[in-house]
Formats: sequence, structure tokens, C-alpha cells
Amino acid sequence: MTWQVDVLTLFPEMFPGFLGYSLAGRALEDQIWSLKTHALREFGSGRHKAVDDTPFGGGAGMVIRADILDAALQATKPMDDRPIIYLSPRGRSLQQADVARFASGQGAYFICGRYEGIDERIFQKHTIEEVSVGDYVLSGGEPAALILMDACVRLLPGVMGSDQSGIEESFSNGLLEYPHYTKPATWSDYSVPEILLSGNHGAIAAWRKEQAEQATKKRRPDLWQAYQQTSKQAYN
Ligand code: ADE
Repeated sequence: MTWQVDVLTLFPEMFPGFLGYSLAGRALEDQIWSLKTHALREFGSGRHKAVDDTPFGGGAGMVIRADILDAALQATKPMDDRPIIYLSPRGRSLQQADVARFASGQGAYFICGRYEGIDERIFQKHTIEEVSVGDYVLSGGEPAALILMDACVRLLPGVMGSDQSGIEESFSNGLLEYPHYTKPATWSDYSVPEILLSGNHGAIAAWRKEQAEQATKKRRPDLWQAYQQTSKQAYN
């Protein structure tokens, strides 16, 4: 079955955006996944199709109305098991394991917010997973939704081809990637590490693992600590 994405947004024209130029765009053409956008504005109220209003209690900015969002969800979400994901800096920080979980399902509904956020009561009525793509604030959820889609689509069967790059890459084994080199073997004053030219596959694999460990230790002490913990558990 096709992996299906439905996006609720004030800016449907932002999709598929940069995904149209990448692996994900090709996969969209090949119908490995499908993307539907739903303009929140169409569910707006009154002559101006308003979707937001001022916050109770005062304060700056506007809040997207729960009744409008609910109407949009009711109209676009058939009875299926796809999760509803709300992109927000308040969400849980997206990890590769989450991406793998979403990619292994049937797809997702994405809610993209703007303004100060959405009326909290929407979370009482619907089961919604809040996801952040990092500890910084974007002006809207759309770029975050595109990021999450990109990460999921590349894991779908048939998208990356038969190579190993999905299995060996960063985060799925808990380590950052080892450094890569290609031709020419000598460029300017820089040469490729000798071992990579040795043809000794065992030694190359050991060197790469060592490099990946060193890079992780130096750049991402948090990942390194988690990696050590899991490898300890594996031996106990
Ligand atoms: N919307 C605004 N900032 C965001 C972030 N960091 N992650 C997900 N959605 C967002």
C-alpha cells in the first residue's frame, strides 16, 4: 500500500517544495508515496474565512482555533490508523527511531501551525503526537513537515535502491559516519588514508569503525555515552 501523507496547512503551495527536487520527488512520481494538502483556510469562519483569533488571557499573536482545526481533521481524516503529527518546537525532539517508526506505518497526517500556536483543546479531543525538528523556532510548521517527510520517504522500500547506505548510516547504529574519500587519490597536497587503498576489507572495516567512534566521541558526547551504554548492555 502507498505510504500516504495528508497535510493541513495555511500554505498548501509550500508542498512538495524542495522535496520535488530530490529522491522523495522521484518517489512521489513513482507513486511509492502520495501527498495531499488541505488548505485550513477552506474551513475558516465568516466572510474572511478566519482560522485564528486573539489569545484568551491576553498576549501577543494569534492562536489557531480548535473548532476550525477539528472541522479540517473531521473532513480529511477517514477512519485509518495513520498518526496525527503536529509540528511544534514544544514537541519531542525528532530521532531517527521515530522516523523509522513513522516510515514503517501507513503514513501520517501533518498539522502545520503558524502564529503563536493552536488552541490546546485540540489535544483533548484528538490523539496528536507533537514533534520538533530541533531546538530553534521556525516561523511555521511547514519546513519541519518537509524535513520529517524527507527523512521518512528515503526509508520506504524501493526509494534508496538496494545499497547499504540506509543500514550503515549515522544514527541507525548509534554512531556518526566515518569519513569518505573518492578519486583522485592525491589531490593538491592531500592524500587519501593509505589503508583505504590496501584492498584489505577487514582492516578497512575496523578503521572505519574506529573513525566513527572517534568522531562521535569528539562531536557528540551525548550519542557516545548512549552508544557505550548499549554496547555494555549487549555484553552483559
Ligand atoms: N514550528 C516552529 N518551529 C518548529 C520546530 N523547531 N520544529 C517543528 N515545528 C516547528
